[in-house]
Amino acid sequence: MPELENDVLLRALRREPTPYAPVWLMRQAGRYLPEYNATRAKAGSFLALAKTPSLATEVALQPLARYPLDAAIVFSDILTIPDAMGLGLHFADGEGPRFERTTADEFAIGRLDVPDMAKLRYVFDAVRQTRRALAGRVPLIGFAGSPFTLACYMIEGMGTHDFATVRRMAYRRPDLLHRLVAINARAVTAYLNEQVVAGADALMLFDTWGGMLTTDGFRSFSLASMRSVLAALAPGADGRPVPTIVFTKGGGQWLDELATCGASCVGVDWTSDLAAARRRVGARVALQGNLDPLVLLTDATVVQREAANVIRAAGPAPGHVFNLGHGIVPATPPENVAALIEAVHRESLAARAGA
Ligand code: CP3
Repeated sequence: MPELENDVLLRALRREPTPYAPVWLMRQAGRYLPEYNATRAKAGSFLALAKTPSLATEVALQPLARYPLDAAIVFSDILTIPDAMGLGLHFADGEGPRFERTTADEFAIGRLDVPDMAKLRYVFDAVRQTRRALAGRVPLIGFAGSPFTLACYMIEGMGTHDFATVRRMAYRRPDLLHRLVAINARAVTAYLNEQVVAGADALMLFDTWGGMLTTDGFRSFSLASMRSVLAALAPGADGRPVPTIVFTKGGGQWLDELATCGASCVGVDWTSDLAAARRRVGARVALQGNLDPLVLLTDATVVQREAANVIRAAGPAPGHVFNLGHGIVPATPPENVAALIEAVHRESLAARAGA
């Protein structure tokens, strides 16, 4: 593997000093970019796009052609695993994901198994092709959904307002929910390890729905399974642990516990203050975040001011990866993203010079 030209992200994830704060954005390849919409139209649908490695590579690189981002993320989705389990994923236009079959009872969960990773070969091919196309410019982030967040979609068959079936199951049939989450944890582990073999330089777990659980529920259904995934990851090609990021949306009150789950970095949504987060986690982990994605719907002046506030809150200590507090929204004007990336680099460089 060639050395990376820009390894600022990997150094920040390991809490080593960096000249500036590395920045990438959740959903940086997506509908706010006209060139993404054009490639998706060419593919015919989001799933066709995600399942065609050459097109997935094309869209993963699109934001890097526009902006001096410090990382690329594999273009895929967290729902590839339940799809490979045979649940029949599709995306209706303008709506969220839908599964033909759910796993909400004893019978369906009993029939479920870790999918053959060969069914997910298109993802590993996309990792390989994207890595090759990057030619060492920046690191490539691989990812998966958390075992619990995958279970949410598998049980409901779609995203819902309150995930009521899942939450009821957590009280009435915790044994069943545990069984489902345990299968997902094995699948996620195998999936992430394959992404590393294919060339992913860092890994992220998206725990989008862990934050809707009670504290006990979060510990037992989400955190424990993420811990077991992280503990079972194989080292990278250089023999070192692959840097990892966990992101529980709405998990601000559990940052101390997230900081000990085995990840190198904890993602923080925009409702937490990064300075307070740093005081709570100490020097144990890097922190990623946490600009409110809606700031990008304002103008360059506000974007610069709010970015500077995030940089100030993060402080000059090593271990801050700048990101949004959740995914970029489709209505984002691309020029505001340019203003953001420029401001993050400039402000974080200045903050270090002044420290
Ligand atoms: O960050 C990136 O650029 C990489 C690509 C990526 C996608 N999905 C592409 C995508 C990543 C990291 C994801 C993760 C994902 N997918 C999550 C976790 C992150 C989060 O937002 O909390 C979740 C919950 C999903 C499931 C999913 N996929 C939903 C709920 C939807 C529909 C909602 C929406 O935003 O439209 C998707 C579709 C999806 N995944 C799109 C993209 C670019 C939009 C589909 C389109 O192009 O029409």
